[in-house]
Order: sequence, then C-alpha cells, then structure tokens
Amino acid sequence: MVKNTTLFTLFLPSSSEHNLFLGPWQALRQHAIDDSIPVISLENALFLKQLLSQHRPKHMLEIGSAVGVSGAWIGHVLNSWDGHLDTLDISVPNHRDTQKNLTQLGIGNVCAYCADALEWLGASINTLYDCVFIDAHKLQSQRFYTACLRHLKQDGLIIIDDAWKFRHKMQGLYHYLATTNTPYSLHFVDTEDATLVIYPKNVSKQSSCE
Ligand SMILES: C[S@@+](CC[C@H](N)C(=O)[O-])C[C@H]1O[C@@H](n2cnc3c(N)ncnc32)[C@H](O)[C@@H]1O
Repeated sequence: MVKNTTLFTLFLPSSSEHNLFLGPWQALRQHAIDDSIPVISLENALFLKQLLSQHRPKHMLEIGSAVGVSGAWIGHVLNSWDGHLDTLDISVPNHRDTQKNLTQLGIGNVCAYCADALEWLGASINTLYDCVFIDAHKLQSQRFYTACLRHLKQDGLIIIDDAWKFRHKMQGLYHYLATTNTPYSLHFVDTEDATLVIYPKNVSKQSSCE
C-alpha cells in the first residue's frame, strides 16, 4: 500500500515554494480532521491538481469551503496560471475559519463568501466560471448542479467530491444526468470513493477525460 506521504513525494517537486505551502497546508488538514471536519482526501487533492492543471481554469467556484482546506489547495494550484477561486459556505463559523486559514497560508487568489450556494447562484446573474467544485450537502447535489449550469462557460467542467460513497444521497443527480443524456466519468481516486467529473455543455471533452 502506497503511503500518502509517498504519494506527495511522487507528485510534487520539493522546491522551497512547495514546501512553504505544503507543510502548513498538511497541518491545517490534519487539524480539521482532528476536529472531525470532513475535508478533501490527499488522493483527491492530487487528482484535482492533475485535472485542473490540464484544464487551467481562470475563474473557479467551490461550493462548501468548510475551513478552507480544499480552497487553499485549489487556490495554490490556480495561482500557477493566475487563476482565481470563489468559495462559498453557508456556516458563519466555517466562513470565518476559512478566511483566517487562507490568510495564514498566504493565499491571495481565493475569495471566501458566507452564503447559501443556491441563493448566491440565484442572485449573481452575470458570473461565469470555467470550473465548479461541489463539496457540500450531498442530498442537494442535483440542485447545486442545475444552479451552476447557467454560471458555467461552454467548455466548463463540474467536479463533485465523494460521489461514490454518498451515491445513495445523490440519486436525484444521477437520475438527472441519465435523463438529460449527460455523460460523466467517475474517478476512483482512493480506496473508498470517487470523484465525479462532468462537462455538461461540451460532450466531446467528456471522452478525453475518461
Ligand atoms: C464536506 S464540507 C466541505 C469540505 C471542503 N470542501 C474541504 O475539502 O476542505 C461541506 C461544507 O458544505 C457547507 N454547505 C452545506 N450546504 C451548503 C449550502 N447550501 N451552501 C453553501 N455551503 C454549504 C457546509 O457548511 C460544510 O462546511
């Protein structure tokens, strides 16, 4: 079995820039886990890095900041090509912790908002994203997904975390994808879960990510 630290060594160059970010980021992640906050797995973080590096989104949205673990990671990745992330969380304490943690990690390209994603997406009429990462209430997955569609650019992609372990809570979304003939791919990034990747408006891209 490959240990997580080994995975990091394999995927990330050991430059001082990465070390400056990685150490504090892993400490933040561990702190969140110790507080029983569900945060992105290391394997999924690495999968995201790979996927985002291929797609290079300039303007990205995250639904579900929690305390900023995935947001900081995504911000760090996007920074390589001057990308920007908006991250939303419905919880006031989570939003506060996200802002504090992003500042402590020196992440300057992520804007954290405290909002219900469905209300926020309904109200912000003109915002268009290249990519949306959904990692919030699984029972609402279909509502998040459809609310994102009108904010997604033509070749944009939607990524949904923990889409296998919680598939029983996401039946509405899977049914919606089937009835709208929307192709998707499930990437089994770790031993127990998979990440769902969808190019809702560009079917030709879907095959290239499978
Ligand atoms: C699994 S955690 C997110 C983990 C985070 N993405 C990470 O990996 O570090 C889910 C978060 O979604 C937030 N959430 C749930 N429903 C939401 C909604 N309607 N709008 C915005 N955030 C929501 C919760 O408050 C919680 O912090």
